[in-house]
Amino acid sequence: MTLSKFVDELPVIRTLKPKGMMDGVPYYQIRMQQCRQKLHRDLPRTTVWGFEGNYPGPTIEVNRGEWIKVKWINDLPQRHLLPIDTTVHGAEANKPRVRTVVHLHGGVVRPESDGYPDAWFTRGYRQVGPLFTRKIYDYPNRQRGTTLWYHAHAIGITRLNVYAGLAGGYIIRDPLEEYLNLPKGPYEMLLLIQDRSFNADGSLYYPIGPEPPVPNVCPSVVPDFFGDNILVNGKIWPYLDVEPRKYRFRIINGSNSRFYRMKLSSGQPFYQIGTDGGLLNTPIITKQILLAPAERADVIIDFSKFKGHNIVITNDAPSPYPRGNPVNVDTEGQIMQFRVCLPLSSYDFSIIPCRLNTIIPLKESCARLIRNLTLVRETDKFGRAFLLLDGKRWDDPITIKPRLGSIEVWNLINLANSTHPIHLHLVNFQILGRQPFHVEYYNKTGQILPTGPAILPDLNERGWKDTVRANPGEITRIIMRFVPYAGLYPWHCHILEHEDHEMMRPYEIIN
Ligand code: C2O
Ligand code: CU
Repeated sequence: MTLSKFVDELPVIRTLKPKGMMDGVPYYQIRMQQCRQKLHRDLPRTTVWGFEGNYPGPTIEVNRGEWIKVKWINDLPQRHLLPIDTTVHGAEANKPRVRTVVHLHGGVVRPESDGYPDAWFTRGYRQVGPLFTRKIYDYPNRQRGTTLWYHAHAIGITRLNVYAGLAGGYIIRDPLEEYLNLPKGPYEMLLLIQDRSFNADGSLYYPIGPEPPVPNVCPSVVPDFFGDNILVNGKIWPYLDVEPRKYRFRIINGSNSRFYRMKLSSGQPFYQIGTDGGLLNTPIITKQILLAPAERADVIIDFSKFKGHNIVITNDAPSPYPRGNPVNVDTEGQIMQFRVCLPLSSYDFSIIPCRLNTIIPLKESCARLIRNLTLVRETDKFGRAFLLLDGKRWDDPITIKPRLGSIEVWNLINLANSTHPIHLHLVNFQILGRQPFHVEYYNKTGQILPTGPAILPDLNERGWKDTVRANPGEITRIIMRFVPYAGLYPWHCHILEHEDHEMMRPYEIIN
């Protein structure tokens, strides 16, 4: 069954108001709840998990430098919506099934407020994980203005909790950005893109295990998951009526495994103004934008010359990316539609400035350390393929201990056959470049033999990033300064099926 496209209007996600003040700063309470929601005109209501009664959760909007406190409350039912694999680390049968903890992705926060995977809690805090320390999180928001997102992060079930719906947007506004005169108000919107599959009764479908099944493990984690319906802001293939003017869209790929390579069916370009970590130096005019899970793109689309047109955001990224199945153009090949049918309500004074930001490049010569870190495929004791970072598992001793304030270069050496979006908590980094190398030779000798020149990051990657695509057969080099907090943080692949199955490691910043 394929659902009709573009029959539901794109939901505008509401902005959450603080509940009051605490210690002189705005205080928010956000409940994770089960709810039933219409995701499509022709689909019965779907049971999902949301925040404050909605999937996706309400957007939190703050100004740069505005400290807030948030209490994330687990009000979820006792029963999980989706099949839990109890062979996966942290999700063993003796653990409570409905555990959550919320991570602000891209947020610069102390470790106690980071939503560490082992800092989970159950309803009413009746049980908590070994690293749980507090109920109320502090978000100082002393970082560049950008689009962050919050999502569930409990060890071993992140893929399931996020798939059930536990994600939402978080915007840090830099008051200086006002002067840039970008499209704003009703002409600025968040687009959270996710893929889902459904059973005929409207319930969420998530596989109980891979095909063919793994002997002796059911349910089992799957190597990846690709839904055949694309949702934006919680509606399947929505449409948005727009005026013939410029709009700003903050696009988040909130999918478990799916990459999107987006184009506009009108052939017009996107003006990409920002990345994960804030504005680019200059807008990048590009006909396609590739987003791996958790990556964000801040874009302007100019509809002024398209009055009367219907424009679709299409997707042609294979899954798994980049060597997997080509997209089905009827389903996953389409994301949403813009209908340029509204009259121009006022003159469009917004502009696309030619200068947006001044990003100072981090210099490799200032690095205290260069680390070589492999991404490698192995087989677990049940015969399932899985991926490791640096050849180690989540529970292995911590091997990465950057010094507080120091700069490091990480060489992500991808020996596997697909692209892995690598995310570090706490820090933003810059991408130095990528270089193809001889994988077999490396496997035999441990030596890197380049097979081509180093290539600079894409134009729209030359900004601050917190998630980088590490392509197969390439060394992806990133540089970052470990500030401003010491402590324990995770880094991991943001394909959630990988993250849950050992492709996550702790690192510790040492003071
Ligand atoms: Cu968006 Cu550790 O994750
Ligand atoms: Cu991965």
